[in-house]
Amino acid sequence: MSLLLVTGTAVVVSTSAQAATTLGASAAERGGRFFGTAVAAGKLNDSAYTTILNREFNQVTPENEMKIDATEPNQNQFSYGNADRIVQHARSRGMQVRGHTLAWHSQQPGWMQAMSGTALRNAMLNHVTQVATHFRGQVTWWDVVNEAFADGSSGARRDSNLQRTGNDWIEAAFRAARTADPNAKLCYNDYNIDNWTDAKTQAVYRMVQDFKNRGVPIDCVGLQSHFTGGSNYPSNYRTTLSSFAALGVDVQITELDIRNAPSDAYRNVTNDCLAVARCTGITVWGIRDSDSWRSGENPLLFNGGGGKKAAYDAVLAALNSGAPNPTTPPPTTTPTTPPPGGGSCTASVTPGTVWGDRYNSSVTVSGASNWSVVVAITAPQRVSTTWSGSFSWDSSGSVMTVRSNGSGNTFGFTTMMNGNTGARPRITSCTSVQSISSPR
Ligand code: XIL
Repeated sequence: MSLLLVTGTAVVVSTSAQAATTLGASAAERGGRFFGTAVAAGKLNDSAYTTILNREFNQVTPENEMKIDATEPNQNQFSYGNADRIVQHARSRGMQVRGHTLAWHSQQPGWMQAMSGTALRNAMLNHVTQVATHFRGQVTWWDVVNEAFADGSSGARRDSNLQRTGNDWIEAAFRAARTADPNAKLCYNDYNIDNWTDAKTQAVYRMVQDFKNRGVPIDCVGLQSHFTGGSNYPSNYRTTLSSFAALGVDVQITELDIRNAPSDAYRNVTNDCLAVARCTGITVWGIRDSDSWRSGENPLLFNGGGGKKAAYDAVLAALNSGAPNPTTPPPTTTPTTPPPGGGSCTASVTPGTVWGDRYNSSVTVSGASNWSVVVAITAPQRVSTTWSGSFSWDSSGSVMTVRSNGSGNTFGFTTMMNGNTGARPRITSCTSVQSISSPR
């Protein structure tokens, strides 16, 4: 009798050990994502603060300590003490660091504010080089350029002393950062680029697209996502994330805080990131409401006493119910959900010959003899030649549907890179069909 009770208890314990209990651990189980926070060096000796930091988060962004006024207070005199303290705290605990930020119109030291023209351009590039070199190997992502676009309907660049050095200042900063730290992921970061239809979002999208087309080094886009009454969580947020990602960059939510911390909005943001394979993590802009730059709005996940708020529970539950590692199937293979009236099959891409301007791919289908496979091509890449299937395209020319034509279970195609050398075709579905519908 007592033996049975002991056995029963053991089973209960092993079952309850399944759901992650912290934000960072749960995010890590969802495709290796991170869940991070902004950190202020001045709070690292507040044990209530560090207890939450060390328990919950696996990524850190220095809130002010890597900004230009902090790291180069006088021209060519660099000061890294507070930033180094945060980096050391984070890295010694296995947390990744986002560097914020190398070039920005705001929080410039007085000497830089007073500069213009070639002297300013050179000072900016020197700053990027020096700071990125100092932190080389310690920073996973750099916000190379922050907030360079104007709000409102213009879609224009923000006017600033840096912008007045010439429109190419942003790409110049990215190139300097790549040279200084070739392994860091280089990001463009901004606010009010959450709503897909906003002119500012579209303008940043076009810049990233242009950078990818011309080979300007850019790896990621950060959406600050400071949501207030005037700038709410938009229902098309997921579209924004996936649209940037489709350009061949990672996306991150980099400074999340939401006025009054409504659970629904926090849950939606989390679910939207989990739904986009290249949304690699979320950073909240502070730990407790009392740590927030907008402390009057109580926008964070912990209250001033360090207690978990309802929004915390909503985020953790959303993370825990997300698809486990990996979030989406590896890009080469897609097992699919059977549509009504049809069955599923599996399609795998095998990379073929690569030339300077184009490459071949072949796709092998298993699990069906009559099938329909949908393949997404990243524009401006375009399919130029096809074989061993029956091919059709949507109006954008980027979504190709291939049906079996009786020549076997493998088809192939050539894709022109058109300047984008990195992107590769993705299978979006494989459907087993009852019979091949006769043409016309
Ligand atoms: C804020 C900090 O939180 C404040 O402590 C500081 O006084 C001003 O800057 N966008 C950004 C962040 O990229 O660097 C800003 O951080 C918030 C808005």
